[in-house]
Amino acid sequence: MTITTAQDKVFAEPREAIADFRFGAEVAQVFDDMLSRSVPFYGEIQRMVSELAQDIVVPGSNVYDLGCSTGTTMLMLDRALPENVNFVGVDDSQDMLVKCEQKLRESGMKRNVNLECVDLHAGIEIKDASLALMVLTLQFLRPLHREKLIADIYKGLGDNGGLILVEKVLGEDSHFNRLFIKHYYDYKRRNGYSETEIAQKREALENVLIPYKLLENRELLLRAGFRYVDVFFKWYNFCGIVAIK
Ligand SMILES: C[S@@+](CC[C@H](N)C(=O)[O-])C[C@H]1O[C@@H](n2cnc3c(N)ncnc32)[C@H](O)[C@@H]1O
Repeated sequence: MTITTAQDKVFAEPREAIADFRFGAEVAQVFDDMLSRSVPFYGEIQRMVSELAQDIVVPGSNVYDLGCSTGTTMLMLDRALPENVNFVGVDDSQDMLVKCEQKLRESGMKRNVNLECVDLHAGIEIKDASLALMVLTLQFLRPLHREKLIADIYKGLGDNGGLILVEKVLGEDSHFNRLFIKHYYDYKRRNGYSETEIAQKREALENVLIPYKLLENRELLLRAGFRYVDVFFKWYNFCGIVAIK
């Protein structure tokens, strides 16, 4: 079933002042289009996530999608994982969860899914989990809270459980960081975003999306205790990392 989404025009009109980016109703309505045009290889990343999930998830366990937004990842996972695996989708945006619930219902998904409105800054208790996902979400948490959240996830995973992290990242030094960002904005232009849209969104995200370097994210996972940590995806300033407890 194809679920259509409205085109992202959130930053199309010039604004006098740019407020911090919010995952409110306006963004939730166009979110799927926003991600498909703003995240390089978004569809391929989702495909890889569900492929890796099949390697990691054990029957009868729970899978947590932290920052689930409109449920795109859970829809992909539903086709890949056994029926007796339960999904827990977590987000602190009620607007995203409404859209998520609607998308899952319209897809005809039969699986046991709990959607929870939780602010991850307060940490999370995860239970009977073989997999946790943070797809483009950790970057939105204030750095002060990241270590504790990763520790909570580690604690709640069973042995050999996994964490899949997808993040926007800084280049390892400022030289490559500049080049990667230049190529990223070219990518957005190719996908139809105007100079106004690119500039205004960049400003809106400035205090909200705080990327780490890839190696800083890797260190964060190793410090939490994960035994194996590897990169499964990299495109300029985006990366996917898989970690096993
Ligand atoms: C870029 S989106 C994630 C995209 C989604 N995982 C996907 O693959 O389509 C980030 C999500 O994290 C949520 N989020 C941001 N800060 C959060 C917080 N402190 N607690 C819970 N969710 C948060 C936002 O509401 C948003 O839905």
